[in-house]
Amino acid sequence: MLRVAVFVSGRGSNFVSLLGSIEKNEISAVIKCLITDNSSCGAVDTAVQNGIPVYFLSRAEREGYYTYSQLSGLLSELGIDLVVLAGFLKKVPDDVVDNFTDRIINIHPALLPAFGGCGMYGMNVHRAVYNSTAKVSGATVHFVDKIYDNGKIIAQSVVDISDVKSPEEIAGRVLMAEHKLLPYVVKKYSENKIIIRDGRVIILE
Ligand code: GRF
Repeated sequence: MLRVAVFVSGRGSNFVSLLGSIEKNEISAVIKCLITDNSSCGAVDTAVQNGIPVYFLSRAEREGYYTYSQLSGLLSELGIDLVVLAGFLKKVPDDVVDNFTDRIINIHPALLPAFGGCGMYGMNVHRAVYNSTAKVSGATVHFVDKIYDNGKIIAQSVVDISDVKSPEEIAGRVLMAEHKLLPYVVKKYSENKIIIRDGRVIILE
């Protein structure tokens, strides 16, 4: 069974949707831990209520916290197969990327490679999309490399925004797409149906 670590910084609605799919046995996986740099984020409550161990990250050494340099060791100790970044705002340390090549995925609330990169998170993304006058937006799940929002794209879901009147409306529509796309990708990953061939990511039926 796929052993998953979920990283979050915020409310954790994607964590909730992934957990829901696992609990309904739609995905053969177990969430072994929630890892967060924000001890007061909503996702922590969800994890605690569901008996999922929570690990807190801190830049400085602090009682009860893991530092970023301890992260790779922690993930290995827990036997993690797949790291899911679901609204995690910090950069994943390079050594973790090296040790978990093609085993870290991120969900981004726009159609990469547009509207990504450092500082492009949350409403910043949706405002930029709105201001661009684009007619579609969507969600992207991609492998994580050492550059923000840069790794190989695994799957995307396109959302029609031609009639929206605000960035908030885009955010709402995209979030609904995210809640389907992330469990879909984790399911495919758990079935070994995501392969990389000639530098491209292929999802098998
Ligand atoms: C999502 O929009 C995700 O794409 C982005 O951060 C947001 C997290 O939302 N990376 P939530 O915490 O899962 O509700």
